[in-house]
Amino acid sequence: MIKQYELPFASNALEPVIDAATVETHHGKHHAAYTKTFTDLVAKAGLEGKSAEEILKNLDAVADETLRTGLRNQGGGYLNHNIYFEQLRPEAEAKHAPEGALLAQIQKQYGSVDALIEELNGLGAAQFGSGWSWLCKAPDGTLKTMKTPNQDNPYSCGTDLVPILTLDVWEHAYYLQYRNRRADYLKALWRIIDWAVAEKRYEG
Ligand SMILES: [Fe+2]
Repeated sequence: MIKQYELPFASNALEPVIDAATVETHHGKHHAAYTKTFTDLVAKAGLEGKSAEEILKNLDAVADETLRTGLRNQGGGYLNHNIYFEQLRPEAEAKHAPEGALLAQIQKQYGSVDALIEELNGLGAAQFGSGWSWLCKAPDGTLKTMKTPNQDNPYSCGTDLVPILTLDVWEHAYYLQYRNRRADYLKALWRIIDWAVAEKRYEG
């Protein structure tokens, strides 16, 4: 079912990391528009009942090129923002560090959580133009990082990876508040990322 993730907090609850105007525009306008357009395209393609993940994994099954491109862009815009907003919590409520199996895997592969964060922020900073930085889980339980352009994600890129965390580096995610300082936005964002959500995705 296609359903925009509803924020369980007020639009100013992520301040000072992300201001109310950015949340209202990003979630209330951009994400809402992706959701509506994707819903319309899914109906046009006769894919009602399929999940966004299924559709994005099987884009090759859509013969019409314009429709296929639309589903890729709008479906990614819908799903990527669900993943992004679901992992954000007010600073006082967010779990600020991972524990358990996810922490153990991070330490094994990256040495420390800080080293992983540095890698993810580096990927986000290096993405030319709009896109996303991702922490994913591979089928064997190992972690993989990647960046994608536009609204692409691990599913539409043909990988077998499951997203654990994502960083939105589209200008609409930070420009009202941080202007051109993408790196500052990425650094601050970790104050409102709820690692409890990442743990659940990793263990799920
Ligand atoms: Fe965004």
